[in-house]
Amino acid sequence: MQSDAIAIFGAGVMGRSITALALGHGVDVVLIDVSEEILQNARADIAQQMRHGQFMGAFPESRAAGTLTTTLSAADAVDASVVIEAITEDAQLKARVMAEISAIVPAGIPLITNTSGIPVAELAKSVQRPAALAGVHFMNPAYLIKMVEVIRGPQTGDEAMTAILSFLERLGKKTVVVRDAPGFVTSRLLHPMINEAARVVGEGTASVESVDQLMQGCLGHPTGPLRTADLIGIDNLVDALRLLAERTGNSTFEPCELLLEKVRQGHHGRKTGRGFYDYGEVLS
Ligand SMILES: NC(=O)c1ccc[n+]([C@@H]2O[C@H](COP(=O)([O-])OP(=O)(O)OC[C@H]3O[C@@H](n4cnc5c(N)ncnc54)[C@H](O)[C@@H]3O)[C@@H](O)[C@H]2O)c1
Repeated sequence: MQSDAIAIFGAGVMGRSITALALGHGVDVVLIDVSEEILQNARADIAQQMRHGQFMGAFPESRAAGTLTTTLSAADAVDASVVIEAITEDAQLKARVMAEISAIVPAGIPLITNTSGIPVAELAKSVQRPAALAGVHFMNPAYLIKMVEVIRGPQTGDEAMTAILSFLERLGKKTVVVRDAPGFVTSRLLHPMINEAARVVGEGTASVESVDQLMQGCLGHPTGPLRTADLIGIDNLVDALRLLAERTGNSTFEPCELLLEKVRQGHHGRKTGRGFYDYGEVLS
């Protein structure tokens, strides 16, 4: 029997943050990943994010928090009212998992991909009901950032769009709907900016701190692009830039050497405790 719970695939940076958002708005979550260790870390991290969200007044006081179930079994998504895919930014992996999800979930259930930039039309080729699939680009941390970019693919149906927008309203989100394209709007603009910021540092023009200070102080960027890179996860950023370069044919989107070096060194940003900045604590 279909329940009110939603299912989220991927308990990484975004899966955790979207889970905290949903729980904080009274929505039950079934969170699915491929290792028990990841799920264990995710539970602790989500509890911390829930405390942070409450402290920041991000959740409605009138609603009791939802309950969290974690599982290694994709089949546990069968009763979900909405399914969100938030797994690694790898087009082949996503295609495989979207096909798996679509075989499990019954007709009428909206499917959401949280990809940073793979066109919805491309992922739609892997699902049985392309009309049910749309993109929702949650930003990190999803429980704090009020706005989401919603991507309507060429095959996305009215029924799915209505259900997804109403679900996002329940989560307190403001939405802007855009058409489908590699990187949509936000990644198409943000990711090259971060890439250029890293190039500027790599070329020795300015330090990490100077780049962020200038972008904050002169141009009103909230954190600076390199601190944003650390929050996103530099491994994810590199994957998304490569996909953007491939899907647009524009080689300037290829990740610069400094970003590649950070990934080789395992300095992925906040989630590994170190990226462009040092954080001490490791979140994943
Ligand atoms: N990090 C950000 O700021 C950000 C923002 C918006 C969108 N996104 C997008 O969200 C998605 C997730 O990004 P992330 O930063 O959370 O990545 P991440 O690397 O932190 O987490 C990805 C998770 O997916 C899991 N996974 C891999 N295969 C799986 C499978 N078959 N079933 C279930 N789980 C599986 C991994 O084990 C991992 O825990 C990507 O598409 C990314 O581009 C990221």
